[in-house]
Amino acid sequence: MWGREPVGGPFSLIDHTGRRRTDGDFRGKLLLIYFGFTYCPDICPTDLQNIGLALDQLGRAADKVQPLFITVDPERDTAEHLKEYMPLFHPRLIGLTGGTSAIRAAADVYKVYYEKVSTKGDDYTVDHTAFIYLMGVDGSYVGFFPPGTSPERIAETLRKQLEQHP
Ligand code: NI
Repeated sequence: MWGREPVGGPFSLIDHTGRRRTDGDFRGKLLLIYFGFTYCPDICPTDLQNIGLALDQLGRAADKVQPLFITVDPERDTAEHLKEYMPLFHPRLIGLTGGTSAIRAAADVYKVYYEKVSTKGDDYTVDHTAFIYLMGVDGSYVGFFPPGTSPERIAETLRKQLEQHP
């Protein structure tokens, strides 16, 4: 998971309870950050499920890890919608949405690509980068997990990080 150029930086978005959240709110915790959208048929739900299972495997140590889901489809993924979707994967998963420019700015600092692609009629899907980013307790970049990384692998990496920065 190592050896990629650093990503990350400031964001200011709205969480699934309607509160404004910035990157600074999460200092002191390891962050798992995933960009995706709730209508994604396959990859997003699998990766979110893996994040949830990894946290379960960590037990109480998971309290020091905050998983964040940032939507790349803010038009459909409103705070109200995210509030229903997040608990399907983990009770501590925070969903973040916002205006299109705020979402674009957050994706840009993580070097996340996404683009709306028309399907049938007015329907659309969103092509997007599907890495899980791991950020350290000080907000700095640690690394990323590629799509489909197992919960065991994620949990093991988090455990090592927590041992280094107890
Ligand atoms: Ni997806």
